[in-house]
Amino acid sequence: MIELNAFAKINLFLDVVGLRDDGYHEVVTLMQSVSLCDRITLEKSDTVSIIGNYGVLPEKDLAYRAAKLFFESTGVSGGVTVRVAKNIPMQGGLAGGSADAAAVLNGLNMLYGTGLDDRFLENMAAKLGSDVPFCIRGGTQLAFGRGEKLSKAEQMKSCGIVIVAGSKGASTPMQYRELDRIHNGFVSYEPNTAKLEALLKAESLQDISDNLFNIFEQTNGYDRTLANKLKYSGAESTLLCGSGSSVFGLFKDLDKANIAANELNNMGVKAFACKPQSL
Ligand code: C5P
Repeated sequence: MIELNAFAKINLFLDVVGLRDDGYHEVVTLMQSVSLCDRITLEKSDTVSIIGNYGVLPEKDLAYRAAKLFFESTGVSGGVTVRVAKNIPMQGGLAGGSADAAAVLNGLNMLYGTGLDDRFLENMAAKLGSDVPFCIRGGTQLAFGRGEKLSKAEQMKSCGIVIVAGSKGASTPMQYRELDRIHNGFVSYEPNTAKLEALLKAESLQDISDNLFNIFEQTNGYDRTLANKLKYSGAESTLLCGSGSSVFGLFKDLDKANIAANELNNMGVKAFACKPQSL
């Protein structure tokens, strides 16, 4: 039996720079793993099954699909019982489902001793979703293409992070459609490169705070209430997580983040304190 943490991610920078012929969008993004995680347990079995209490049908569950894909792609005969203990808010732009799927691929590679290298795992991961390859690698990565082309970046400065969950989940395809409308299909869009460059050279939390950017904050559905609550609780800066609906706030350290998260939870806002997670 194997137990793994499946870490959530935030995007410190997320810009969309083009609409592709396959319907996906070209993105430029700086992704960061955070210590908020689901817990995945894998146990060898004759068939593939999944146990979790988060109400997703197996065929729609990325973790289940990852296990199926592993056995199909490798030709390994066998199966697995996957147990998922969910902590990461769903439809929150935190890649929770992608993190679970990546943990299943990494874990099956260990459980069955298949010795697959990262490239093979990331190719499998890309078939499951745009964020899954990042979740295989973790840490701090620049991502291009659909989000699956990765290049390692310098680890984020140590800080505290509070993630607050939106009351409604956001649909990623709908959020992208809304951006297409706002930016006329991204025919002549100028990417926000100055902020990305500043983030890549950031030497302090202040530098990071000054340059956070997420194009999805331009959509109509973006509700500033959560960001305002985080600011009121002492966040240095805030940003929408991925395509939404969660929002994260940066704090000087984990102690400050814990205090703020407690305060927010007491006010009835679902908040999670965490920190940047390295590789
Ligand atoms: O890759 P993933 O399955 O997570 O994407 C979900 C949906 O989000 C896609 O079907 C597409 O509509 C949209 N998407 C996109 N461009 C990306 C990533 C996702 O348009 N780079």
